[in-house]
Amino acid sequence: MKITQIHAREVLDSRGFPTVEVELEAESNGSKFFGSAIVPSGASTGEGEALELRDGDKKRYGGKGVLKAVANVREKIAPALIGREFPNQFLLDDALRDLDGTANKSKLGANAILPVSMAFCRAQAAAEGIPAYLQISKLFESKGVTLPVPMMNIINGGKHADNGLAIQEFMIVPAGFTKFSDALRAGAEVFHTLKKILHDKGLSTGVGDEGGFAPSFTGEKPHEQVIQSIMQAISEAGYKPGSDIFLALDCAASEFSPEKGTYLFEGQKHSSKEMIALYSHWIENYPIISIEDGLSEHDWDGWEELTRAAGSKIQLVGDDLFVTNPTYLKRGIDHHCGNAVLIKLNQIGTVTETLETMKMASHAHFAQISSHRSGESEDTFIADLAVGTDCGQIKTGSASRTDRIAKYNRLLRIEEQLGDKAVFKGLASFPAFKRK
Ligand code: PGA
Ligand code: ZN
Repeated sequence: MKITQIHAREVLDSRGFPTVEVELEAESNGSKFFGSAIVPSGASTGEGEALELRDGDKKRYGGKGVLKAVANVREKIAPALIGREFPNQFLLDDALRDLDGTANKSKLGANAILPVSMAFCRAQAAAEGIPAYLQISKLFESKGVTLPVPMMNIINGGKHADNGLAIQEFMIVPAGFTKFSDALRAGAEVFHTLKKILHDKGLSTGVGDEGGFAPSFTGEKPHEQVIQSIMQAISEAGYKPGSDIFLALDCAASEFSPEKGTYLFEGQKHSSKEMIALYSHWIENYPIISIEDGLSEHDWDGWEELTRAAGSKIQLVGDDLFVTNPTYLKRGIDHHCGNAVLIKLNQIGTVTETLETMKMASHAHFAQISSHRSGESEDTFIADLAVGTDCGQIKTGSASRTDRIAKYNRLLRIEEQLGDKAVFKGLASFPAFKRK
């Protein structure tokens, strides 16, 4: 495929902050093909993430403009790539990495590089006459037929809300179904039931960044109150907790850890050991299937201990810990820290490197979760990534806000398109989880 045009512009994400959109045109066998992509943006970012280039000009969007990244696409990437043949994604992504030349994409910005990489993937799918998920399945040498189990973040806290909850995400995981569309329906029904429960308790039903409710629970043990409200919502919606629907947490603990091994939780200082004891108590008492970033990204010793304590019972996911980066993931695999990795394309910056991290995880029997960021857009690439790699899990927010729903709707269309070929593995998508 010969690249004939690359155009970039500044558009807005779901929080109203600027982000980069790229449109790419390529020629293959005398025909033109097109691909476009918009990159997302995180709030609780890991320190090891690839660089997101922001203008820093306080007069525009409080410094969050991305005109420098847009200029890097227009003035550095486009002139270097236009007119060149790229037979595949790997060679294109190599060229992008060479152009940048840094380990963390700090010269051009991951937000300049990634949308070109994603747009190329879509243009190549168009040239092959196949959907993006099948294009990804070719790159990943997978079947590209597995609809992911949704991990739906229905109560938001931490950096995604303003309600005093330390834990960032309380998710429901409808893994006890045989079809994606049935799982999604159950999740949405629980979300609606929870709204009523919160309303009846006099709590706010306004939503946070990922479309989950963001109520301020007062009194003792607010986090456990949240868990109990969700349990109630599952039952009242007519589903069985621990058989139809499970719970998952993203603690994003780096955000409430002021120093290594210390956690500020519910008004008190806790050690890693105390946090592990708390999680173990919750795992004993509630149908928790997965905990993400239970400890901070600096607390590797704590992670080893957490994995010894809970890694044979539930899924333990590294997000800030691994930042979709093979170097950090390898450390985790070697030291038995966690048993799953959250996959965010913009943490590493190209499609190829994202797939490399997923391959490494796969070989080590670490589960992979295709994930959104808290700042999203109408782009649905992560839905195709989940199906294309057959990873079996997706984290893309609650059952509200179009930036989240766009991914679910994309998956509904893919499920219909795959027809009898569609696979939904349910609980089998969580190999680390052992039912009590
Ligand atoms: P972020 O949050 O996009 O703000 O980093 C999502 C997550 O932590 O999983
Ligand atoms: Zn996370």
